[in-house]
Amino acid sequence: MEKTEKPAGVEEKSESMEEKPAGMEEKSDGRTGQSAGKGKPPAGAMRLDRFLAEMGAGTRGQIRDAAKNGRIQVNGVVEKRPERKLFPEEDTVTFDGRRVAYAAFEYYMLNKPQGVVSATEDNRYQTVVELIGERKRGDLFPVGRLDIDTEGLLLITNDGALAHRLLSPKKHVDKRYLAVVEGRLPDDAAEQFAAGIVLADGTVTMPARLEAADAFPCGKVASGTFSVLPDGGESRQVIVTIREGKFHQVKRMFETLGCRVTYLKRLSMGSLVLDESLRPGQYRPLTDEELAAFEVV
Ligand code: URA
Repeated sequence: MEKTEKPAGVEEKSESMEEKPAGMEEKSDGRTGQSAGKGKPPAGAMRLDRFLAEMGAGTRGQIRDAAKNGRIQVNGVVEKRPERKLFPEEDTVTFDGRRVAYAAFEYYMLNKPQGVVSATEDNRYQTVVELIGERKRGDLFPVGRLDIDTEGLLLITNDGALAHRLLSPKKHVDKRYLAVVEGRLPDDAAEQFAAGIVLADGTVTMPARLEAADAFPCGKVASGTFSVLPDGGESRQVIVTIREGKFHQVKRMFETLGCRVTYLKRLSMGSLVLDESLRPGQYRPLTDEELAAFEVV
């Protein structure tokens, strides 16, 4: 699976590509020891080097060297054997004197700002994972991709099973966006969205919903949802709900209708709704209620 995502135009990408969680990897420890989830069984024994690698302390090679140099302690005693088994939720590990806390799974809601890429690592741009300053794990990834110029709700986690459930078009999870659209929308635009749009490359989208933004005042970027531009063109705010995540899907759907998306913000994904108190670039852990709605607790 692809590890990074380049912003639009930086890297060629299949036009029909579905959203995939960038950097998502299968966990061999399954779903045990979920720190964010109450009622989960405790994590089983694991090797010291794997524990530290999963918590993002370094590569296994770096950790082996650090252990050899006496920089790692377990329960207050220097441990030079990287293969040493420990119980992550019971034993206390320190690296260079700093406690390394364990989390099997982490879940953060990010209000993605523009100019940041939905990737785990990138040579040119800051990534959404790098914005999560309090992350413990080294294997977090964004659930789905928002374009570099798209804002809004992004779930950052290392729970691959949840990511799969949220992204699979077969699971019919609604993703709702606020879009500012320039150009004259056809009168039957909503009907065309509902019927499925044939994109420029012939791909047919699943039925989608197009509504005026008036019904969703929290999502507005400015007062008013319709304006006439200086050149006589039109600009309006709309709410679009889709169940897939094709590359640039919302923008391409409007392009097919002869319009251009000038601003895009994801408002919700299934039961998860963007916390409007988060300014672009801010994040917070999911609440117990939000986790319960995803059935991960
Ligand atoms: N559709 C788009 O065109 N861009 C996004 O970032 C998300 C959905």
